[in-house]
Amino acid sequence: GVFLLLTSVVPLPEQPVVALYGKDVTLNCSFSHASPFNLSDLSVFWQLTDTKRNVHGYWEGHDQLVDQAESFANRTSLFPAQLGMGNVSLLLSRVVVADEGSYTCFVKVQDYGSAALLLQVAATYSKPVVTLEPESNLRPGDEVALTCVAYGGYPEAGVIWQDGAGRNLTDNITTSVVANEEGLFTLTSILRVVLEPNSTYSCQLINPLLGEEGNAFVTITGQNIAFPPVALWVTVGLAVCLLVLLIALAAVCRRKIKESCEEARREGTGNGRGGKQERWLCTYITTVLYVLTIHW
Ligand SMILES: *[C@@H]1O[C@H](CO)[C@@H](O)[C@H](O)[C@H]1NC(C)=O
Ligand SMILES: *[C@@H]1O[C@H](CO)[C@@H](O)[C@H](O)[C@H]1NC(C)=O
Ligand SMILES: *[C@@H]1O[C@H](CO)[C@@H](O)[C@H](O)[C@H]1NC(C)=O
Ligand SMILES: *[C@@H]1O[C@H](CO)[C@@H](O)[C@H](O)[C@H]1NC(C)=O
Ligand SMILES: *[C@@H]1O[C@H](CO)[C@@H](O)[C@H](O)[C@H]1NC(C)=O
Ligand SMILES: *[C@@H]1O[C@H](CO)[C@@H](O)[C@H](O)[C@H]1NC(C)=O
Ligand SMILES: *[C@@H]1O[C@H](CO)[C@@H](O)[C@H](O)[C@H]1NC(C)=O
Repeated sequence: GVFLLLTSVVPLPEQPVVALYGKDVTLNCSFSHASPFNLSDLSVFWQLTDTKRNVHGYWEGHDQLVDQAESFANRTSLFPAQLGMGNVSLLLSRVVVADEGSYTCFVKVQDYGSAALLLQVAATYSKPVVTLEPESNLRPGDEVALTCVAYGGYPEAGVIWQDGAGRNLTDNITTSVVANEEGLFTLTSILRVVLEPNSTYSCQLINPLLGEEGNAFVTITGQNIAFPPVALWVTVGLAVCLLVLLIALAAVCRRKIKESCEEARREGTGNGRGGKQERWLCTYITTVLYVLTIHW
């Protein structure tokens, strides 16, 4: 018989193949064959190791895709020119998160052989954004929440929070991930700190497959802390007092003017034209004051 030695050509057998989300990846599989062989004697069968679902088939000289799992439709191909050289690597296009897993490559010429490899999917996160909550009315000594958000990445990233001096902050950090329909993560990390003026906090993402990714930082300057709640309440209180004072003043004025008007009216009854003018003025002023009071 013919000795068929099958190897999945990755640097180390256990080292997974990392594919970038949305890109193409080649799953290496090749065998050495002692003598040239006829392609119509070659059978290749790519399968998901765990579920035994069919990824790609080839025998009798052409691709056999009738039993192919639907999730792989139109996304797989062998390299026809390479088959005769014992290279039965699989090209997987437009990688999605669900492609992650172990793949087995079966080959038959006269003998059988098989090898498996692990595919891992990686996607880069968006540049993180750090926000401060609450955003204003801050005082030194307040506890604030710094939220770092990045999305569209895979797999779950580690988060390192550091202060301005580059010290790792490890207390009071809550990190959570939520997957979207494509399986990509939105990562939210919340750091609670006691506020000090003029301090910097940075949020750094570490993707386990891609290494360091984006980082973001926020600097809390004196400006965020310029308008503490006490000052705000004092301002509001003063405004209310002023308003009350104005209304009272208006009421008093109105009564006083009304009184003097009545007096003028009484005196003016015999005085003809001059009295008429005075009376008209009084009515006018009283009305204006009345309207003003109502509006206030
Ligand atoms: C497949 O094999 C080729 C040649 O041996 C190598 O250059 C390439 O990096 C391998 N691909 C993967 C995903 O391991
Ligand atoms: C390969 O096999 C087919 C069918 O068995 C045969 O018709 C063909 O001549 C063979 N080709 C070679 C190069 O041996
Ligand atoms: C695969 O391609 C064929 C032909 O272009 C198309 O009819 C079919 O809908 C595609 N299948 C999927 C799952 O995209
Ligand atoms: C198999 O063919 C693919 C595509 O040409 C190539 O990338 C890969 O390096 C080949 N593998 C070997 C072991 O030659
Ligand atoms: C902070 O933690 C990261 C990851 O654990 C580490 O790589 C880094 O050296 C640490 N930095 C300091 C200053 O401790
Ligand atoms: C963590 O939170 C606790 C309770 O809110 C607080 O006492 C402690 O000072 C915080 N630690 C840091 C490093 O902010
Ligand atoms: C804040 O820090 C910067 C640089 O460390 C310094 O130049 C500035 O004077 C500081 N401001 C305050 C209000 O402490």
